[in-house]
Amino acid sequence: MATAEQLKALLQSYADGDEARFLSVAMQVAAKEAKLGHSKLAQDLRALIDEVKSRASIAPRTPRQPIPLVQPKGELAGVLSVTYPRTKLEEMVLEEIVRERLLRVLSEQRQHHKLREHGLRPRHRVLLVGPPGSGKTMTASAMAGEMTLPLFTIQLDGLLTKFMGETAAKLRLVFDAIRTTRGVYLFDEFDSIGGHRGSANDIGEIRRVLNSFLQFLEADDSDSLIVAATNNAQLLDEALFRRFDDVIEYHQPTPELAARLVAARLGPFLPPDLEIAALVKTAADLSYAELGRASDDAVKAAILSDASTVDARSVQRAFDERRGARRK
Ligand SMILES: Nc1ncnc2c1ncn2[C@@H]1O[C@H](COP(=O)(O)OP(=O)(O)OP(=O)(O)O)[C@@H](O)[C@H]1O
Ligand SMILES: [Mg+2]
Repeated sequence: MATAEQLKALLQSYADGDEARFLSVAMQVAAKEAKLGHSKLAQDLRALIDEVKSRASIAPRTPRQPIPLVQPKGELAGVLSVTYPRTKLEEMVLEEIVRERLLRVLSEQRQHHKLREHGLRPRHRVLLVGPPGSGKTMTASAMAGEMTLPLFTIQLDGLLTKFMGETAAKLRLVFDAIRTTRGVYLFDEFDSIGGHRGSANDIGEIRRVLNSFLQFLEADDSDSLIVAATNNAQLLDEALFRRFDDVIEYHQPTPELAARLVAARLGPFLPPDLEIAALVKTAADLSYAELGRASDDAVKAAILSDASTVDARSVQRAFDERRGARRK
């Protein structure tokens, strides 16, 4: 029988319209049955999968991607990029306090009409602060995915370079877009404009940009959600912190959260007897992103050697490799 995780993966890939993943999980189920000696069942499953595959090639299913309605044009083309994420908050491993605060933003955003009827504004300016690989960028995707809104990422290098005086004008265009097109707007690696306004090595231009940013942020009365992310809170100015409705802090994973992330990422490849708590103890210094990639590496190795689950040693090796990669 398929494991509960495999069933979940099957249903999820069906819901996502992800045929490739659906078939790959089905193949895993067949492989597992074969291994258990249920060769008749395995054969039947493989025959069914082949049939589905051949049908798919005759009448390909239209992918259930939303049709991109908005594409930044003209001057905004180099400054904003748009994606339509399907990420959900549920896919993230988060500290409880972080999850609660994100859910509150979502709830206020979803019911913004209700709040506005009473003269109140939903939370719509959020600053995410935390170390690399803790899920800040992913959070912006998940917020967009949860609200089925487009995610516009502001390309700060596109905004800041070239002719200095143009930067503020471009920023105005971005805030015009924020007002006219509802979406999640991500100012990623925000410290590059968010540096102290008074610091010695400050370039006048950056200071002007930051001042205009603060004014625009203050004046913004749109239905969009503005998310700024940085891993360098010290660089940020007090004045900035005050302008955000929420400042949410991310940290390195606790052992418990690390174990949850690894278990989720190993999915159906998690052996039931794996002592995951002990295993992640050896990876206490790894970020969520590194733990995730190491888990993926272990799963890939299992798939390529036709194993139905990972083994502890290969996960351990993958952790060490990620740590080594970082030191280079
Ligand atoms: N909290 C988390 N829960 C689940 N997966 C995570 C989490 N954090 C990171 N990941 C995984 O790591 C990847 C990279 O994370 P992300 O880019 O969101 O980190 P970040 O905080 O924006 O890092 P940086 O400061 O380097 O930009 C994600 O796409 C996801 O696969
Ligand atoms: Mg990021």
